[in-house]
Amino acid sequence: MGKFEVIEHPLVQHKLTMIRDKNVGTKFFRETVKEISTLIAYEVSKNMPLKEVEIETPICKTTQKELAGKKVAIVPILRAGLGMVEGFTDLIPAAKIGFIGMYRDEETLKPHEYFVKLPSDVSERQLFVVDPMLATGGSAVDAIGALKKRGCEEKNIKFACLVAAPEGVKAIQAAYPDVDIYTAALDERLNEQGYIVPGLGDAGDRLFGTK
Ligand code: URA
Repeated sequence: MGKFEVIEHPLVQHKLTMIRDKNVGTKFFRETVKEISTLIAYEVSKNMPLKEVEIETPICKTTQKELAGKKVAIVPILRAGLGMVEGFTDLIPAAKIGFIGMYRDEETLKPHEYFVKLPSDVSERQLFVVDPMLATGGSAVDAIGALKKRGCEEKNIKFACLVAAPEGVKAIQAAYPDVDIYTAALDERLNEQGYIVPGLGDAGDRLFGTK
């Protein structure tokens, strides 16, 4: 089973509490989602493999560590996932960015890709799939499915969000048990409209100022 981690760092918790407040405006919300995402990126990337390299400092030759070279792609789920991208690229500036936009056919309930644009070598990369809200888990499961269809392996996929509902965590774990899940909060439940309780409302609308 993949890892499930709630990021308890005090800065993450404090910033998340600030943006849960319904009176926070778009600018502050967007900036703070970015800041939280950087802190999440720090946690999510902490097990990236290292290798030893020989370098020369101004003083002497030495063997030190650098990233072992597995290339990274950040994959936001459209549209709210876009709000987390810059936070990740602040820490991993060389990462490629792939995009996944899916919707569910209301009759068949089958996922449909309306926009998928990924790096050509996506199956060889360490993937960070990002979406602020893990609610039912439907979009996350569909997005991971879209990556697996293109040859990506679960062990190379980490899912990161700001707020998760237990239902969403269970959905990912049931469908893709080897995907690691990181969140800043595990909330109580979903309400009848599919919103996370207490949550922070519609993350996409709050990020982009739409309604
Ligand atoms: N998507 C959101 O943006 N918010 C929720 O609470 C659930 C899904």
